[in-house]
Amino acid sequence: MKLSTSALLASSIVSANGASLSLLNDLLDIVPILSPGPSSTSTDPNQYVNLFLGADGGGHVFPGPTLPFGMVKMGIDVINSAAGDAYSGYAPDGQVDGISMMHESGTGGAPEYGVVAQLPLTGNVNLAIDNSQPRPDNASIGYYQIFLQNGVEVEFAPTAHAGIYHYTFPADQAANVVVNITHHLRAPSRPYWTQYFTGGNVAVSSDLSQYTGESTFKGGWGEQGDWSIYFCGQFDTPAKSVSSFVGQASSSSLTASSSSQDQAAGVIFTFPDGATDVNSRVGISFLSTDQACANLAAEINHYDVQTTTSQALDAWQSEVFDKVTADTSNSTIATMLYSSLYATHLLPSNRTGENPLWTSSEPYYDDWFTIWDIFRCLTPLYNIMNPDHASGMVRGLIDTYKNNGYMPDARSANQNGRTQGGSNADIVLADAYIKNIGQGEINWNDGYSAMVKDAEVQPPNNNDPFAPDSSTKEGRGALPDWLKYGYITRNYTRSVTRTMEYAMDDFGLSVVAQGLGKTADYQKYLNRSANWRNIWNPEASAKGYSYKGFIQPRNSDGTFNNTNYDPMSCGGCYWGDDEYEGKPVEYGFAVPHDIATLVEYAGGDQTFIKRLDDMFGVYGGAVLGDIGNEPSFLTPFLYNFVNAQYKTVETTRYLINNHFNSGNSGLPGNSDA
Ligand SMILES: *[C@@H]1O[C@H](CO)[C@@H](O)[C@H](O)[C@H]1NC(C)=O
Ligand SMILES: *[C@@H]1O[C@H](CO)[C@@H](O)[C@H](O)[C@H]1NC(C)=O
Ligand SMILES: *[C@@H]1O[C@H](CO)[C@@H](O)[C@H](O)[C@H]1NC(C)=O
Ligand SMILES: *[C@@H]1O[C@H](CO)[C@@H](O)[C@H](O)[C@H]1NC(C)=O
Ligand SMILES: *[C@@H]1O[C@H](CO)[C@@H](O)[C@H](O)[C@H]1NC(C)=O
Ligand SMILES: *[C@@H]1O[C@H](CO)[C@@H](O)[C@H](O)[C@H]1NC(C)=O
Ligand SMILES: *[C@@H]1O[C@H](CO)[C@@H](O)[C@H](O)[C@H]1NC(C)=O
Repeated sequence: MKLSTSALLASSIVSANGASLSLLNDLLDIVPILSPGPSSTSTDPNQYVNLFLGADGGGHVFPGPTLPFGMVKMGIDVINSAAGDAYSGYAPDGQVDGISMMHESGTGGAPEYGVVAQLPLTGNVNLAIDNSQPRPDNASIGYYQIFLQNGVEVEFAPTAHAGIYHYTFPADQAANVVVNITHHLRAPSRPYWTQYFTGGNVAVSSDLSQYTGESTFKGGWGEQGDWSIYFCGQFDTPAKSVSSFVGQASSSSLTASSSSQDQAAGVIFTFPDGATDVNSRVGISFLSTDQACANLAAEINHYDVQTTTSQALDAWQSEVFDKVTADTSNSTIATMLYSSLYATHLLPSNRTGENPLWTSSEPYYDDWFTIWDIFRCLTPLYNIMNPDHASGMVRGLIDTYKNNGYMPDARSANQNGRTQGGSNADIVLADAYIKNIGQGEINWNDGYSAMVKDAEVQPPNNNDPFAPDSSTKEGRGALPDWLKYGYITRNYTRSVTRTMEYAMDDFGLSVVAQGLGKTADYQKYLNRSANWRNIWNPEASAKGYSYKGFIQPRNSDGTFNNTNYDPMSCGGCYWGDDEYEGKPVEYGFAVPHDIATLVEYAGGDQTFIKRLDDMFGVYGGAVLGDIGNEPSFLTPFLYNFVNAQYKTVETTRYLINNHFNSGNSGLPGNSDA
C-alpha cells in the first residue's frame, strides 16, 4: 500500500483572500491514493530524515538508532546540559556519561530508562568523565557516531533486543569500557519523578570477554515500582584486567547523585596495550540473563556495525518509508515529512515475548508514553499505515486489561500510569474497530469488556500528591460524578478535561457496542457521549469577544461555577486545575463526535468560523489555541464541517510554516511520541 501525499506537500501558501481554484485542485488530490503492487524503487530515506528534528528546543525527540517500535533504543545519555534534564538521553551540550540501550522519545513529564550502559574512557581511569562539547554527532537511520572529547570515536547500531558498539580508541592511551549497572536517566529538576537504582549485580566471564547481570530501578513519571532489566555483553577483544567499583568517584562531574540509593556500581574492562579497535555487542531482556544472551545470539552473531545498520534501514524502508511517496521538490517539506514519519514510529515499543508479568500468546507493547498524546491523530495513522503493529497494539492493550485490570492511558516499565484526562485507549480501540484492523485477530468481546471497565468501574485511588482526589494510574478517576451528574464537578481535579474526554471515550464505546449488536449499550453510551453539552454555558463570555457560550466548570447543584473561571485561561493548566494543558476555549472544540451540536451552540456556521479564525492567528487577531500541545490538534480540521475546507488548508499550511521547521528545534513543544 502506498499513500500519496502530494497534495499535502504542495508548497504554496495561499493568502487569506485567495481561496482559489488551485486549492480546490489540491483538495481533490488529498484523497490518499492506495495503489496495489510492489513499491517503486525507493529513494534512500536518509536523504530526507533528520533524526535530530525535535531533539533540541524542548522537543525531546530521541535521535538514537532503533527499529520501528523497537524495544532497544540505543543512545547517548547526557548530564549537566544547559538545555535541562535530558528526557530522551540526548542533549545538544553537556557531558556524555553513558551510551545505553533503552529510551523513550519526546516525553515531557520526566526521563525514563537510560539503562544498560557502556562508556569508553581512556588513560589511567579515575572515572572522571570528560566528554563535554564539542562532541559532534552523526546519526542516520540505524546508525549513530559520536566523537567524545577524550578522543574515542563510538559507532553503534541496534536490533530489536540487542545492539552493537564499535570503539576506536586513541593509540597512545589505555582503552577502557565502563559497565555501570546503576546507570539511568535522572530528573534533577523534578526530583519527585526521578528514577532510582534499587539493586543489581554483574558477573564477568573468566576469560574477561563477557559480562551478564541485572539491574532494578523504580520511580519515573509513572511512579513505577521496582522493575528489572537483564543484560548480556560481549567484547571481541578479551580485557587484560577487569576491576569493579562501588560508590561515587571523586570527580566533581560524578556527584550529581542525590540519594544513597543511587550509588554507582559496576565493572571496568581495561583492554590490552595498543588495542585501538574494540567491538562489543549487548543483548537485553526483561525475563532473565539467559534470555538476554539468547536475544543477542539470535540477532547479532558478528561485530560489524554496518551489517546491523543495513538491517535496520531495511526494516524502516519496508515498515514505513516504502509506504509513502512524497511528490515534492521542496526538500524542507520532504525533510519535515520524512523525519516526522520516522519520529512517530518510535513508541510504543513492541515487547512481544518480553513480558515478565504474565504468559500469553498475545502481542505485548509497552512505552505508551502516552496514549493521551497520540490517540487523536497518531494511532489512527498507524491503523492506516501499519495495521500489523496497530493490531498488535490493540491486542496488547486488551491483554493488559485482562491481566492488569485496566488498559493504560500511559505505561512504561510494564506498569500503568499516568492518566491525564480520559481513558483514551477506548478511542484507540474504537478507531481500530471501525477500520477493521486485525481482520479477526482481535477478540472484540474482550476489547469491549476492557472499554466497559473504563466506563463503569472506578479504579482505586493511588493518592497522587498532584491530584489526591482520585486515580491517576488508570481508568477514569472521577467516574462517580460522571455517572451521577453527567459531568465532573470541581470536587475532582481536571473536571473540564475529564468531562470532555469521558464524553469522547463514551462515544468510542457506542461505536463498538453498535458494531457488536449491543443496541442498548449503543444507545446508552451515545447518550453519555453528549454529556459534554452539560458543561456548555451559553451565557459564558470572555472580555473582548463578541460571541458568547463556552464550556465551564459546573457545581453538583447544576449551577455554573464562576470562581476563578475565564474561558481563555486554564490557570496552572496542570494536574490540580480544571483543565489540563489547554484552555476552556480549546477543550470546547474537542468533540469530534458531535460537531453539528457544537456548531449550533457556537452560534451557527459563520460564528463557528469566526471562533476558529481566532484560534491560530492565521487571519490576524487572537491566537487562542496552542498547536504545540495536544488539546488543539484536531481544531484546524473543523472548518471542514462548515463547508470552509479552504480554511483548513490555509490554517494547516500556516501552522506548518510558522510553527514547525526542518531543524533540530523544529517542533513547537514536546514531540510526545
Ligand atoms: C558525519 O559523517 C559525514 C559522512 O560520513 C562526515 O563527512 C562528517 O565528517 C561527519 N561529521 C562529523 C561531525 O563527524
Ligand atoms: C553510574 O550511573 C549513576 C546513575 O546514573 C551515576 O550517578 C554515576 O555517575 C555513574 N558512574 C559512572 C562511573 O559511570
Ligand atoms: C519549501 O517549503 C518551505 C516550508 O513550507 C517554504 O518556507 C519554502 O519557501 C519552500 N521553498 C520553495 C523553494 O518553495
Ligand atoms: C513484534 O515483535 C515480535 C517479537 O520480536 C515479532 O515477532 C513481531 O513480528 C513484531 N510485530 C510486528 C508487527 O512487527
Ligand atoms: C438518553 O437520554 C435521554 C434524555 O437525555 C433519555 O430520555 C433517554 O432515555 C436516554 N436513553 C438511554 C438509552 O439511556
Ligand atoms: C462536592 O460534593 C459535595 C458533596 O456531594 C457537594 O455538596 C458539593 O456541592 C460539591 N462541590 C461542587 C463544586 O459541586
Ligand atoms: C465553586 O468552585 C470553588 C473552587 O473549586 C469551590 O470552592 C466552590 O465550592 C464552588 N461553588 C459551589 C457553589 O459549589
